[in-house]
Amino acid sequence: MREDNRRFAFAVALAAALVTVSTALAAELTGLRGTVPIDQEAAPPPIANEVNDDKRQARNYPEQPPVIPHQIRDYPITLNANKCLSCHSRQFTAQSQAPMISVTHFMDRDGQILASVTARRYFCTQCHVSQADAPPLGENTFRDIDAIIGAERAGEGTQ
Ligand code: HEC
Ligand code: HEC
Repeated sequence: MREDNRRFAFAVALAAALVTVSTALAAELTGLRGTVPIDQEAAPPPIANEVNDDKRQARNYPEQPPVIPHQIRDYPITLNANKCLSCHSRQFTAQSQAPMISVTHFMDRDGQILASVTARRYFCTQCHVSQADAPPLGENTFRDIDAIIGAERAGEGTQ
């Protein structure tokens, strides 16, 4: 009998502890939906404007696909049409004054340069994104290599 009581007390304590932990976690893990309960629909924030200032952004590291400095709404990229290439392909850049897709965009997987864009780089928005005129959703502490080297030279170290 006493053994049963002890087990019961243990079960109650465990349940209480679990409830406390899960409430604490739920409070912390609000996520992007905010504090709206899971069974209710949050009012969506208005869609931010696309940055369309035509100013090419610096890349954060040399291999970064540059971000798109113009709007791309309703630019189709389908089997039959690729609106991006109507300005960025080799033969149209004189007319459009857009930067040409670089030579890597013509290379197949064996490094062979093809006559036009390789299938591996046909779907531009797989790598290139336009920017939203909105505050960032998360904190970002990224520093580029020049900032790190500069800090090292100034004796701060790499941390
Ligand atoms: C009407 C012509 C036109 C179309 C269509 C177009 N672009 Fe552009 N794009 C430009 C021009 C011109 C620039 C140079 C900066 C500027 O004037 O906006 C540019 C800049 C860029 C850049 C920046 C390059 C750099 O070095 O910083 C990227 C990336 C880019 N475009 C990707 C795209 C993608 C992806 C699409 C299709 C979704 C697209 N563009 C469609 C004309 C165009
Ligand atoms: C698999 C990823 C990927 C895809 C898909 C892709 N790009 Fe790129 N793009 C890059 C990277 C990475 C760079 C920078 C390094 C380089 O040139 O390869 C770049 C560079 C560029 C540049 C700048 C070129 C320069 O010399 O300044 C333009 C413009 C561009 N891409 C347009 C496009 C367009 C238009 C498409 C679709 C037809 C496209 N890209 C598809 C990854 C991609």
